[in-house]
Amino acid sequence: MSKFITFEGVDGAGKSTHLAWFADTLRQRGLEVLVTREPGGTPLGERLREILLNQPMHAETEALLMFAARLEHIEHVIRPALQRGTWVVSDRFSDASFAYQGGGRGVPWAKLEQLERWVHEGLQPDLTLLFDIPVEIARQRLANNLTLDRFEQEQADFFERVRAAYHRRVQQNPQRYAVIDAAQSLEKVKQQLEEIVSAI
Ligand code: TYD
Repeated sequence: MSKFITFEGVDGAGKSTHLAWFADTLRQRGLEVLVTREPGGTPLGERLREILLNQPMHAETEALLMFAARLEHIEHVIRPALQRGTWVVSDRFSDASFAYQGGGRGVPWAKLEQLERWVHEGLQPDLTLLFDIPVEIARQRLANNLTLDRFEQEQADFFERVRAAYHRRVQQNPQRYAVIDAAQSLEKVKQQLEEIVSAI
């Protein structure tokens, strides 16, 4: 049976680097794997991503647009892939909305839960890899980027709230998550990922 796996973490945790390697490892084991991302993953979703990453807006508008892009992504990409037996690995999903719009921007948790039920009742990732890292280290890594989007430009306290909200999600549903210590060397993180691939 195909699985739906998501990668999460604060900006600068290194999840995108590891995602590519993780997907290749699954492919080497003979699986059909679709790599996708949020916000994005569909033509409309990618247009919304452009807006979300650049255009200032009300926090709840941001939450609504994230979930609108997600609905497109689920209906046109994620569900069809899972139904034909393809594994789906997504760079972010709803946990990011709880972390960034909920924790970071202060959108009430209950409103996000309402949106989650509306958009994907009955569908959750089979596994979420949370790349956890002290905010200070993540920010040092981001400092090497030439351009920073609207989220990456936020201050340390924003990312502390994002990180705490991710942990709140893990506490609410611990069996869905593998929390990875992303402050370790790339090699050490890869070892952890290898163990996860073997286990699934
Ligand atoms: P990110 O996944 O970090 O992409 P890149 O590696 O190309 O920078 O960027 C997406 C940004 O969108 C990230 O800062 C988190 C934010 N985001 C939310 O705020 N809410 C969401 O629901 C999602 C999916 C992303």
